[in-house]
Amino acid sequence: MQTHEKPSQSNDETGSSAVAPTGKFLRNTWYPILWSSDLAADQLIGRTVLEEPIVFFRKDDGAPAAIADMCPHRFAPLHLGKRKPGDRIRCLYHGLEFDATGACAFNPHGDGRIPHNSTVASYPMIEKHKILWLWMGHRTPDPALIPDFSIFDTDDAGALTKFDYITIAANYELVTDNLMDLSHTAFLHEGLLGTEFSVRGELTVTQDGNAVIVSRYNRNTPVAKVHDLIFRQDGQPCDTWDSIRWDAPGCFVLDVGVHAPGATKAEGSGLYAVHLLTPETATSTHYNFSAVRQGMANGQKPSPEISKQIGDMRRDIFLNQDAMIIEAQQENIRRFPERTKRPALFSTDAGPARQRRVLNALLAADAD
Ligand code: FES
Ligand SMILES: [Fe+2]
Repeated sequence: MQTHEKPSQSNDETGSSAVAPTGKFLRNTWYPILWSSDLAADQLIGRTVLEEPIVFFRKDDGAPAAIADMCPHRFAPLHLGKRKPGDRIRCLYHGLEFDATGACAFNPHGDGRIPHNSTVASYPMIEKHKILWLWMGHRTPDPALIPDFSIFDTDDAGALTKFDYITIAANYELVTDNLMDLSHTAFLHEGLLGTEFSVRGELTVTQDGNAVIVSRYNRNTPVAKVHDLIFRQDGQPCDTWDSIRWDAPGCFVLDVGVHAPGATKAEGSGLYAVHLLTPETATSTHYNFSAVRQGMANGQKPSPEISKQIGDMRRDIFLNQDAMIIEAQQENIRRFPERTKRPALFSTDAGPARQRRVLNALLAADAD
């Protein structure tokens, strides 16, 4: 079911108290932690997720696995160890071996008895749409809860930008606010992803189940660099669209594109830009991103060179513009927790406010 909401200029309707970061993590959900291509057969990758250290590896049959990244003997990180046959990891320090269920499967010392209290936590994982998904909840994991990222199920490597990754030293909800309110592209990314005219398009906020979608169309505006790059490369004004969909807890697909003034989307050229957020700690976020070309105008084929330029440009922008300002924002919130509880809101905050309401409802149901 879709419901539509027109944004309002009023603080009351966007509800400033509802947009403060919840400071909580959803547990019974899938977290997109790694790209499939990040994890090779014998590799061990340690990452903290929801404040828990976890080591990621592939079992002998290639399926992904995740167990706690801390040996119960002397607490060495297991990701420093070695991948051994039988789905095992051998601790680097004194050689205990752990299997994919988290059980200690081998003790090279003394009579080989398995010590008490030597089982570590293990976490379900699924590999889907070239993404490795992690479940940290107490309920039975439901694969149907994984959002649809079938846009990545393409063999056309030229249509894809790099499967990329950065970390941001801020709570993932601040990054979520950044993505749910793309009006910032006009200012923070001026000339690159938007222009000062990009904020003129009328905003709509819709809901599809628990997904929230924020959409906008801009008519006959000066062209920003990314729109020019994927379309005519002539610097002429154009119409642009952007529509970002959020699925809990931190999965975003931005349908963005460009066409000649007065033309239609079918005559345009665009991208599906994907952003996947997973909380590392309360003040840091794993940020995986990539993009897939769509709607190539004039029968063009995706160009690997242009896809590379788009990927490089997005990495540079996310690191040097988005991460820069979000980290500065997080620092102000850390220094002034009381003063930053009630933000001054305006019309473009309708998307983040709706998203936060849905997240709050999901968090309330999460502990059941
Ligand atoms: S710390 Fe792992 S075996 Fe000693
Ligand atoms: Fe941005």
